Amino acid sequence: MTHASSRIKALRSVSLQVPDLTLALKFFHDVWNLYSVSQIDGKVFLAGSGNDAFLISLCERPGPAKVVDVTLRAHDLKNLDEIKASLPENNGKLLKDTHPVNEPGLGQAITVCDADGRIFKIIHGDQPRAFDPALESNEKLKDIPIRLAHTVLNSDKVDDSQKFMENVFDFCLSDRTKIMAFMRCNDDHHSIAFGDTDNNALNHIAFLMPDLESVMRGGGRLKDNGYPIAWGPGRHGPGNNAFNYFVGPFDLVVEYTSEVQQIDDSYKARYPKDWQWPAGRTDHWGISAPPSDDLKRAQKLIGFINQ
Ligand SMILES: [Fe+2]
Repeated sequence: MTHASSRIKALRSVSLQVPDLTLALKFFHDVWNLYSVSQIDGKVFLAGSGNDAFLISLCERPGPAKVVDVTLRAHDLKNLDEIKASLPENNGKLLKDTHPVNEPGLGQAITVCDADGRIFKIIHGDQPRAFDPALESNEKLKDIPIRLAHTVLNSDKVDDSQKFMENVFDFCLSDRTKIMAFMRCNDDHHSIAFGDTDNNALNHIAFLMPDLESVMRGGGRLKDNGYPIAWGPGRHGPGNNAFNYFVGPFDLVVEYTSEVQQIDDSYKARYPKDWQWPAGRTDHWGISAPPSDDLKRAQKLIGFINQ
Protein backbone atom coordinates (compact mmCIF):
# COMPACT_ATOMS: atom_id res chain seq x y z
CA MET A 1 0.00 0.00 0.00
CA THR A 2 1.36 3.35 -0.95
CA HIS A 3 -0.10 6.77 -0.72
CA ALA A 4 0.44 8.38 -4.07
CA SER A 5 -0.37 11.79 -2.60
CA SER A 6 1.35 13.10 0.53
CA ARG A 7 -1.48 15.61 0.98
CA ILE A 8 -4.76 14.05 -0.14
CA LYS A 9 -6.10 10.76 1.15
CA ALA A 10 -9.24 10.45 -0.96
CA LEU A 11 -12.02 12.02 -2.96
CA ARG A 12 -14.82 12.46 -0.40
CA SER A 13 -17.89 14.15 -1.91
CA VAL A 14 -19.33 16.59 -4.42
CA SER A 15 -21.60 19.49 -3.51
CA LEU A 16 -24.21 20.54 -6.04
CA GLN A 17 -26.62 23.42 -6.46
CA VAL A 18 -29.85 22.37 -8.19
CA PRO A 19 -33.03 24.18 -9.24
CA ASP A 20 -35.40 21.56 -7.77
CA LEU A 21 -34.32 19.95 -4.52
CA THR A 22 -37.32 17.62 -4.38
CA LEU A 23 -36.55 16.17 -7.81
CA ALA A 24 -32.83 15.88 -7.04
CA LEU A 25 -33.52 14.13 -3.76
CA LYS A 26 -36.02 11.78 -5.36
CA PHE A 27 -33.42 10.87 -8.00
CA PHE A 28 -30.43 10.39 -5.72
CA HIS A 29 -32.35 8.56 -2.98
CA ASP A 30 -35.13 6.61 -4.67
CA VAL A 31 -33.49 5.85 -7.99
CA TRP A 32 -29.72 6.21 -7.60
CA ASN A 33 -30.05 4.39 -4.25
CA LEU A 34 -27.97 6.65 -2.03
CA TYR A 35 -28.75 5.64 1.49
CA SER A 36 -29.07 7.97 4.44
CA VAL A 37 -30.36 11.51 4.14
CA SER A 38 -29.76 14.36 6.54
CA GLN A 39 -30.44 18.08 6.41
CA ILE A 40 -28.59 21.07 7.85
CA ASP A 41 -29.44 24.69 7.10
CA GLY A 42 -31.56 23.82 4.06
CA LYS A 43 -28.88 21.61 2.54
CA VAL A 44 -29.51 17.91 1.98
CA PHE A 45 -26.74 15.33 2.40
CA LEU A 46 -26.82 11.81 0.99
CA ALA A 47 -24.49 9.02 2.07
CA GLY A 48 -23.64 5.68 0.54
CA SER A 49 -23.11 2.40 2.36
CA GLY A 50 -19.46 3.21 3.10
CA ASN A 51 -18.28 5.28 6.03
CA ASP A 52 -17.96 8.69 4.35
CA ALA A 53 -20.29 11.11 6.13
CA PHE A 54 -21.90 11.89 2.77
CA LEU A 55 -21.18 11.62 -0.94
CA ILE A 56 -23.46 14.29 -2.40
CA SER A 57 -24.77 17.49 -0.91
CA LEU A 58 -27.62 19.40 -2.51
CA CYS A 59 -28.83 22.94 -2.13
CA GLU A 60 -31.61 24.65 -4.08
CA ARG A 61 -31.01 27.72 -6.25
CA PRO A 62 -32.87 28.80 -9.39
CA GLY A 63 -31.14 28.37 -12.74
CA PRO A 64 -29.01 25.59 -14.17
CA ALA A 65 -27.39 23.04 -11.85
CA LYS A 66 -23.88 23.95 -10.75
CA VAL A 67 -21.01 22.38 -8.85
CA VAL A 68 -20.38 24.11 -5.50
CA ASP A 69 -17.22 22.12 -4.80
CA VAL A 70 -15.41 18.84 -5.14
CA THR A 71 -14.30 17.79 -1.65
CA LEU A 72 -10.98 16.02 -1.08
CA ARG A 73 -9.87 14.64 2.28
CA ALA A 74 -6.41 15.61 3.53
CA HIS A 75 -4.18 13.26 5.54
CA ASP A 76 -3.39 15.88 8.15
CA LEU A 77 -4.27 19.40 9.23
CA LYS A 78 -0.82 20.59 8.17
CA ASN A 79 -1.64 19.57 4.60
CA LEU A 80 -4.17 22.42 4.50
CA ASP A 81 -1.35 24.89 5.18
CA GLU A 82 0.88 23.24 2.57
CA ILE A 83 -1.91 23.50 0.02
CA LYS A 84 -2.54 27.16 0.88
CA ALA A 85 1.17 27.93 0.52
CA SER A 86 1.34 26.31 -2.91
CA LEU A 87 -1.60 28.24 -4.40
CA PRO A 88 0.05 31.53 -5.51
CA GLU A 89 2.72 29.95 -7.68
CA ASN A 90 0.14 27.66 -9.28
CA ASN A 91 -2.39 30.38 -10.19
CA GLY A 92 -4.73 29.12 -7.50
CA LYS A 93 -6.80 31.15 -5.07
CA LEU A 94 -7.82 30.66 -1.47
CA LEU A 95 -11.59 31.21 -1.38
CA LYS A 96 -12.10 30.38 2.29
CA ASP A 97 -9.42 29.97 4.94
CA THR A 98 -9.41 27.19 7.52
CA HIS A 99 -12.86 26.97 9.10
CA PRO A 100 -14.99 24.49 11.03
CA VAL A 101 -17.37 22.63 8.72
CA ASN A 102 -21.07 22.60 9.56
CA GLU A 103 -21.93 19.48 7.60
CA PRO A 104 -22.34 15.80 8.52
CA GLY A 105 -18.91 14.52 9.58
CA LEU A 106 -17.81 18.01 10.63
CA GLY A 107 -14.01 18.59 10.44
CA GLN A 108 -12.05 21.61 9.29
CA ALA A 109 -11.63 22.77 5.74
CA ILE A 110 -10.25 25.29 3.31
CA THR A 111 -11.83 26.11 -0.04
CA VAL A 112 -9.61 26.84 -3.02
CA CYS A 113 -9.96 27.23 -6.75
CA ASP A 114 -7.68 26.82 -9.73
CA ALA A 115 -7.16 29.36 -12.52
CA ASP A 116 -10.26 28.12 -14.38
CA GLY A 117 -12.59 28.32 -11.40
CA ARG A 118 -12.73 24.67 -10.39
CA ILE A 119 -13.51 24.73 -6.68
CA PHE A 120 -12.03 22.19 -4.28
CA LYS A 121 -12.83 21.92 -0.60
CA ILE A 122 -10.04 20.25 1.35
CA ILE A 123 -11.28 18.72 4.55
CA HIS A 124 -9.51 17.20 7.50
CA GLY A 125 -10.86 15.49 10.61
CA ASP A 126 -14.31 14.63 9.24
CA GLN A 127 -15.82 11.81 11.26
CA PRO A 128 -16.91 8.54 9.64
CA ARG A 129 -20.61 7.88 9.39
CA ALA A 130 -21.97 5.91 12.33
CA PHE A 131 -22.38 2.20 11.70
CA ASP A 132 -26.00 1.42 10.91
CA PRO A 133 -26.96 -2.14 11.93
CA ALA A 134 -30.11 -1.92 9.78
CA LEU A 135 -27.91 -1.69 6.72
CA GLU A 136 -26.07 -4.87 7.58
CA SER A 137 -29.18 -7.00 7.17
CA ASN A 138 -30.68 -4.94 4.41
CA GLU A 139 -31.10 -6.77 1.11
CA LYS A 140 -30.92 -3.37 -0.57
CA LEU A 141 -27.25 -3.09 0.50
CA LYS A 142 -26.15 -4.94 -2.60
CA ASP A 143 -27.44 -2.08 -4.76
CA ILE A 144 -26.28 0.94 -2.73
CA PRO A 145 -23.27 2.93 -3.92
CA ILE A 146 -20.40 2.52 -1.43
CA ARG A 147 -18.47 5.76 -2.06
CA LEU A 148 -17.44 8.06 -4.86
CA ALA A 149 -15.04 6.42 -7.30
CA HIS A 150 -13.98 9.48 -9.30
CA THR A 151 -15.01 12.83 -10.67
CA VAL A 152 -14.13 13.86 -14.21
CA LEU A 153 -13.74 17.57 -14.92
CA ASN A 154 -13.52 19.09 -18.38
CA SER A 155 -10.55 21.25 -19.16
CA ASP A 156 -9.57 23.42 -22.10
CA LYS A 157 -5.96 23.24 -20.84
CA VAL A 158 -5.49 19.73 -19.51
CA ASP A 159 -1.71 20.10 -19.08
CA ASP A 160 -2.26 23.10 -16.79
CA SER A 161 -5.01 21.33 -14.85
CA GLN A 162 -2.76 18.30 -14.41
CA LYS A 163 0.07 20.51 -13.11
CA PHE A 164 -2.28 22.17 -10.60
CA MET A 165 -3.31 18.77 -9.23
CA GLU A 166 0.33 17.65 -9.07
CA ASN A 167 1.76 20.80 -7.49
CA VAL A 168 -1.07 21.73 -5.13
CA PHE A 169 -2.57 18.37 -4.15
CA ASP A 170 0.37 16.05 -4.93
CA PHE A 171 -1.74 13.86 -7.24
CA CYS A 172 0.11 11.91 -9.91
CA LEU A 173 -0.70 10.90 -13.43
CA SER A 174 -1.85 7.30 -13.86
CA ASP A 175 -2.53 7.40 -17.60
CA ARG A 176 -2.95 9.90 -20.42
CA THR A 177 -5.18 9.09 -23.38
CA LYS A 178 -5.92 11.31 -26.36
CA ILE A 179 -8.97 12.69 -24.54
CA MET A 180 -8.26 12.37 -20.81
CA ALA A 181 -5.64 12.66 -18.05
CA PHE A 182 -6.31 10.16 -15.23
CA MET A 183 -4.91 11.20 -11.86
CA ARG A 184 -4.63 9.39 -8.56
CA CYS A 185 -4.08 10.20 -4.89
CA ASN A 186 -4.31 6.64 -3.49
CA ASP A 187 -4.53 3.05 -4.74
CA ASP A 188 -7.52 3.73 -6.99
CA HIS A 189 -6.30 4.11 -10.57
CA HIS A 190 -7.91 7.55 -10.65
CA SER A 191 -9.92 9.77 -8.32
CA ILE A 192 -9.90 12.84 -10.57
CA ALA A 193 -9.58 12.92 -14.35
CA PHE A 194 -9.52 15.83 -16.79
CA GLY A 195 -11.28 15.52 -20.11
CA ASP A 196 -9.89 17.48 -23.07
CA THR A 197 -12.71 19.78 -24.16
CA ASP A 198 -13.41 23.40 -25.04
CA ASN A 199 -14.74 24.28 -21.57
CA ASN A 200 -14.20 23.70 -17.83
CA ALA A 201 -17.49 22.10 -16.79
CA LEU A 202 -18.21 18.97 -14.78
CA ASN A 203 -18.00 15.93 -17.03
CA HIS A 204 -19.41 13.33 -14.62
CA ILE A 205 -19.42 11.88 -11.12
CA ALA A 206 -18.79 8.15 -10.68
CA PHE A 207 -20.06 6.09 -7.75
CA LEU A 208 -18.41 2.84 -6.70
CA MET A 209 -20.87 -0.06 -6.58
CA PRO A 210 -20.24 -3.34 -4.74
CA ASP A 211 -19.68 -5.41 -7.88
CA LEU A 212 -20.37 -5.86 -11.56
CA GLU A 213 -23.82 -7.28 -10.80
CA SER A 214 -24.87 -4.12 -8.98
CA VAL A 215 -23.64 -1.96 -11.88
CA MET A 216 -25.80 -4.04 -14.21
CA ARG A 217 -28.86 -4.09 -11.94
CA GLY A 218 -28.43 -0.34 -11.56
CA GLY A 219 -28.71 -0.07 -15.35
CA GLY A 220 -32.10 -1.78 -15.19
CA ARG A 221 -33.30 0.25 -12.22
CA LEU A 222 -32.41 3.53 -13.88
CA LYS A 223 -34.06 2.43 -17.13
CA ASP A 224 -37.24 1.45 -15.23
CA ASN A 225 -37.29 4.97 -13.80
CA GLY A 226 -36.94 6.76 -17.12
CA TYR A 227 -33.16 7.19 -17.22
CA PRO A 228 -31.87 4.85 -19.94
CA ILE A 229 -28.19 3.90 -20.11
CA ALA A 230 -26.43 6.64 -22.10
CA TRP A 231 -23.19 4.67 -22.43
CA GLY A 232 -22.58 1.10 -21.33
CA PRO A 233 -22.47 -1.52 -20.14
CA GLY A 234 -18.75 -1.54 -20.77
CA ARG A 235 -15.29 -1.81 -19.30
CA HIS A 236 -12.94 1.16 -19.58
CA GLY A 237 -9.35 1.02 -20.79
CA PRO A 238 -7.52 3.14 -18.16
CA GLY A 239 -8.70 1.95 -14.73
CA ASN A 240 -10.20 -1.23 -16.20
CA ASN A 241 -13.47 -0.42 -14.40
CA ALA A 242 -16.92 -1.60 -15.44
CA PHE A 243 -19.38 1.20 -16.20
CA ASN A 244 -22.89 2.40 -16.97
CA TYR A 245 -23.48 6.12 -17.60
CA PHE A 246 -26.72 8.05 -17.23
CA VAL A 247 -28.00 11.57 -17.79
CA GLY A 248 -29.82 12.42 -14.58
CA PRO A 249 -32.03 15.40 -13.70
CA PHE A 250 -30.70 18.83 -14.74
CA ASP A 251 -28.33 17.10 -17.22
CA LEU A 252 -26.16 15.84 -14.41
CA VAL A 253 -24.08 12.93 -15.73
CA VAL A 254 -23.55 10.09 -13.27
CA GLU A 255 -21.81 6.75 -13.56
CA TYR A 256 -22.11 3.46 -11.73
CA THR A 257 -18.75 1.74 -11.69
CA SER A 258 -17.05 -1.26 -10.07
CA GLU A 259 -13.81 -3.22 -10.11
CA VAL A 260 -11.61 -0.10 -10.39
CA GLN A 261 -7.99 -1.15 -10.89
CA GLN A 262 -5.88 -0.83 -7.74
CA ILE A 263 -2.33 0.30 -8.42
CA ASP A 264 0.78 1.39 -6.55
CA ASP A 265 3.89 3.39 -7.29
CA SER A 266 5.25 0.64 -9.57
CA TYR A 267 2.49 1.46 -12.11
CA LYS A 268 3.88 2.95 -15.31
CA ALA A 269 1.77 5.65 -16.93
CA ARG A 270 0.87 5.02 -20.54
CA TYR A 271 0.19 7.67 -23.16
CA PRO A 272 -2.12 8.23 -26.18
CA LYS A 273 -0.10 6.00 -28.50
CA ASP A 274 -0.50 3.15 -25.98
CA TRP A 275 -4.25 3.64 -25.54
CA GLN A 276 -5.91 3.07 -28.87
CA TRP A 277 -9.10 1.12 -29.54
CA PRO A 278 -9.71 -0.82 -32.73
CA ALA A 279 -12.11 0.98 -35.11
CA GLY A 280 -15.65 1.10 -33.75
CA ARG A 281 -14.64 0.27 -30.17
CA THR A 282 -14.88 2.57 -27.15
CA ASP A 283 -14.27 -0.02 -24.42
CA HIS A 284 -12.94 -3.52 -23.80
CA TRP A 285 -16.20 -5.38 -24.29
CA GLY A 286 -17.63 -3.78 -27.43
CA ILE A 287 -21.23 -4.49 -26.40
CA SER A 288 -22.44 -0.92 -26.03
CA ALA A 289 -22.95 1.72 -28.69
CA PRO A 290 -20.57 4.69 -28.31
CA PRO A 291 -21.59 7.44 -25.84
CA SER A 292 -24.96 8.91 -26.86
CA ASP A 293 -25.20 12.43 -28.28
CA ASP A 294 -27.35 13.32 -25.28
CA LEU A 295 -24.56 12.20 -22.92
CA LYS A 296 -21.93 14.20 -24.81
CA ARG A 297 -24.19 17.28 -24.72
CA ALA A 298 -24.86 16.95 -20.98
CA GLN A 299 -21.15 16.45 -20.21
CA LYS A 300 -20.49 20.09 -21.07
CA LEU A 301 -23.33 21.87 -19.30
CA ILE A 302 -22.71 21.97 -15.56
CA GLY A 303 -20.17 24.56 -14.51
CA PHE A 304 -18.83 25.53 -11.09
CA ILE A 305 -20.71 28.29 -9.25
CA ASN A 306 -18.05 30.91 -9.91
CA GLN A 307 -17.47 30.19 -13.62
FE1 LIG B 1 -15.94 7.74 -15.31
